[in-house]
Amino acid sequence: MIRLIRSKDYDHLSQIAAKKIIEQVKHNPHAVLGLATGSTPLGTYRLLIEDHQKNETSYYHVQTVNLDEYVGLPSDHPASFHAFMKKNLFNLIDLKEENIHLPNGNAKDLDHECEKYEKLIEDLGGIDLQLLGIGRNGHIGFNEPGTPFSSKTHVVQLSPSTRRANACFFQSPSEVPENAITMGINTIMQSREILLLASGVEKAPVMRQLMEKSISIDLPASVLHRHSNVTVIADEEALSSC
Ligand code: GLP
Repeated sequence: MIRLIRSKDYDHLSQIAAKKIIEQVKHNPHAVLGLATGSTPLGTYRLLIEDHQKNETSYYHVQTVNLDEYVGLPSDHPASFHAFMKKNLFNLIDLKEENIHLPNGNAKDLDHECEKYEKLIEDLGGIDLQLLGIGRNGHIGFNEPGTPFSSKTHVVQLSPSTRRANACFFQSPSEVPENAITMGINTIMQSREILLLASGVEKAPVMRQLMEKSISIDLPASVLHRHSNVTVIADEEALSSC
């Protein structure tokens, strides 16, 4: 079952999400946080940084595992998810370098890297709180429509629409990698709690589909209806077609 929180706008959505993450970290300083890239969580990350600076909420014992990473980009490429996370969050809070985990999209053996990432999450004791955005085609992480719900961390081919949606982070659309490593749908579903954020009118059609409650692999996010602890925080624009 999905709990829906309606926020009036993007700032409000970010406040609600940041509050939930801060509560989690205060309650469990050793929490394992699953983090996401994309534009949507940026406001939330800004508020976590602000709160860290003002109230000294500490991330020193927190472990982070990111959902995904492009294949074949150097980790210091500005559009890599490593670089994105460093710039927008990791460098600005007191996370320990060794507690930061993202799939290595430059690993020689990508299948082995996927197995290693799955094992790492397991060894950390699983994810306490997983933050998610949603793609316009309903993807979560980089799990495109048609991905089996049983999938674990795997290599994916990105759809043309996903590559277009992410092109703004690159100098030219042709630079967007064709492949990525992503946590699988099953990996995500194993998280103890999930928070999905959706903002803006361009997410209205997919949010309408999601809120119709039918579960199908054609809409990867719809699997969340089967999870017992999911909160969707969406703003008025994202819910304008519901
Ligand atoms: C990418 C990421 C997803 C993210 C999605 C939506 O494809 N891999 O994790 O949820 O984009 O991005 P945005 O928040 O920019 O709309």
